[in-house]
Amino acid sequence: MAASYTVCRLQTRGRGSVAKCLRRVDTFLHRGIGTKVVAAQTEAAVKHDSVEKNDGRKSLYAVQAERQEQAERSVLISCYSRIKHNMFLKYLSRHGDIKKHFFYENNGVYAVVEFARQESVASLLEGASIPRVSQESVVPFKSRLLSLRNLDSGESSNRPSSQRAQPQTAPTINDVMQRLSKQESIDQQITQLTEAYQLTEENISLRYLVCSLLKDVAAGYFPECTIKPFGSSVNGFGKLGCDLDMFLDLDGISGQNMKMPTPGLCLEYQLKMGNSERATTQNILSVIGECVEHFAPGCVGLHKILNARCPLVRFAHQPSGFQCDLTANNRVAMKSTELLYLYGELDPRVRLLVFTVRCWARTHGVTSSIPGAWITNFSLTVMVLFFLQKRSPPIIPTLDELRDLAGPADKSVIEGNDCTFVSDFGNIPLHGNTATPGQLLREFFDFYASFPFNKMSICIRKGTEQNKPEVAPLHIQNPFETSLNVSKNVNAAQLQRFTALCQESAWLSCQSQTMMPKSKSEGSNLQHWGLAALLQPSRVAGVKRRKQRAVGRISESLQSVIESLKSGIQQ
Ligand code: GTP
Ligand code: MG
Repeated sequence: MAASYTVCRLQTRGRGSVAKCLRRVDTFLHRGIGTKVVAAQTEAAVKHDSVEKNDGRKSLYAVQAERQEQAERSVLISCYSRIKHNMFLKYLSRHGDIKKHFFYENNGVYAVVEFARQESVASLLEGASIPRVSQESVVPFKSRLLSLRNLDSGESSNRPSSQRAQPQTAPTINDVMQRLSKQESIDQQITQLTEAYQLTEENISLRYLVCSLLKDVAAGYFPECTIKPFGSSVNGFGKLGCDLDMFLDLDGISGQNMKMPTPGLCLEYQLKMGNSERATTQNILSVIGECVEHFAPGCVGLHKILNARCPLVRFAHQPSGFQCDLTANNRVAMKSTELLYLYGELDPRVRLLVFTVRCWARTHGVTSSIPGAWITNFSLTVMVLFFLQKRSPPIIPTLDELRDLAGPADKSVIEGNDCTFVSDFGNIPLHGNTATPGQLLREFFDFYASFPFNKMSICIRKGTEQNKPEVAPLHIQNPFETSLNVSKNVNAAQLQRFTALCQESAWLSCQSQTMMPKSKSEGSNLQHWGLAALLQPSRVAGVKRRKQRAVGRISESLQSVIESLKSGIQQ
C-alpha cells in the first residue's frame, strides 16, 4: 500500500493497544490498595453518553453508538486487483471528504471507505449504475456493497492483489510460535500472542459495516431497527476470524420504550398479535432470513436455526469472510457482552489472560468452532474471570459487587432476570494485586488442575464456588439467568481432557528448562520455550496428536519432559 494512503488506526482497540494496556498495568500496580479508579465525572443517569472515561475508556454503549454512526457513513467496494489507490480515492472524493479508508484482501481486494458526511454516501449511490449483465434475473436491491470497474481498460475482475492489502485472517499457530520464541519473557510472549490474534481496528470497522449493511435489509420491514454486533466481535476478547454475532434490535419500535399515554385523544398503531414472544422472534428472523438469502448481495449459505434456545439465522458474508449469526430478542446476551467488556477494560491483565487461555484451549482442541460437547469460548472466559476473582487480593470484583455499585440508570431486568451492574468504571474499586500475566497463567493452570468439578459450581456472581445444583460434569452458573448452566453441553470426557491439560501445563510451567528463554536458535529452527512450549501438541489426557507435522517439531528435550510426566501420571 502506498505510504500516503496508510491505513488509519485508532487506539481504542487493535494492534498497538496492548502495549498501551501494559502501561496501564504498570500504572494500576502503583495505585494504592482499595483506591478507586480516578473518577470520571459523568452523570450516572446518562448511560449512553459518549464521554470518555478515565484512560480514554468508554462504555460499550458509547463505543457502539460511535461505531454504528461511522458504519452508516461507510461503503464497501470490491476493487479490481490492479487498482491505483490514489486514483480510486480521488474518484470517490468527488462525492465528499473521505474520513478514513482501508484496503483488505479476501479473495480479491476490497476497500472500506468512510465519508465525513452521510450525504456523500447518498451522492455516491446516486451516481452508481446497475450492471449490464447477460441474464435478466438480477435482484434490483441496491445496497452499499459496490463494485468498481474501469470501463477504459475493461478491468473488473477481482483477483487476489499483488499490492499490499491487509488479510483479515489470523496468523498461523506456527508463525505465532516462532514469534513467541523470539521474546525475552513470558509476559512479552503473552502480549505478543494477544497482539497477533486480537481483532484489528479495521476488522472491527468491517464488522460494524456488515451489521449496517444488514440493517438496510431489515429496515425494509422495520425502518427504525438497528443491528448491533455482540459477543467476541465487541467484548474485547475477539480473535481474528471469530464469528460475527448480531442482534436485531427492535426495542426502539416495540413496546420496550413505550411512552406513557397522556390524557386526551391519542393514536395508536394497530399491530398484529403473535402467539408468543418466541414465535414472533422466530417469524421475524424467518422473514428477514429469507430477504438476506434472496436479496442481500454477498450473503450466502443461509440456514435458519429457529428451534434453538436462542433462535438464529446463520449465513456467510462473502466480501468480509465473516460467518454471521443473526438473532433477535437476545438482550441477555447483549448484557453478558457488556459485562465481559467491562471486565476486560477494568484491568489489562484480564484481556491478556483470556486471550492466552482461549488460544491455549483452541490449540489443544479443548474448544472448537464446531458445536458439540466442547467447552465454549464463553464458558472458558467465565472460568478465567472466576479465577481472577479468586486471587488474593481479587483482581476483579464479583458480579454482586458490580450490582451493588450500580446507579438508578443502570437498573436492568430482562425477562425477570436481574441484569443490573454498574456501567461507570470510575465507581469500581480495585485492589492492589501485583501478579504479572505470566504468574497468573501458571496459577490458572494450577487452579483448574485441582478444581473440585465433581462437587462445585463456578459462579462469577458470588466469586466463590457453590454446591452444584444439578448433575453435570461441568457447572458454570449463567451470570444473569442463574438457574442455567452455560456449560451444560460439556461431557465428562471433555472436562477430563481440560483438567489433564491444565495439569500438564501447570507441570510444564514449573520446569525451568521449558520456561527459560532460549535466545540461540539451532539452525533456522528456534527452540520453543515458555508459552510457545505450552502451545505444543500435548500427549496427555488421551489428547491425540492433531497434526503429524506439528508433532514432528517437538524438541527432544520437551519430548522427554512429556514422557516423564506421562509415566508420573501412570504411577
Ligand atoms: P467466539 O464466537 O467463540 O469467539 O466467542 P463468543 O463470546 O462470541 O461466543 P458465542 O459466539 O458462542 O456467543 C456470543 C455471545 O453470546 C457470548 O459472548 C455471550 O455474551 C453470549 N452467550 C453465549 N453462550 C451463552 C450462554 O450459554 N449463556 C449466556 N447467557 N450467554 C451466552
Ligand atoms: Mg461469537
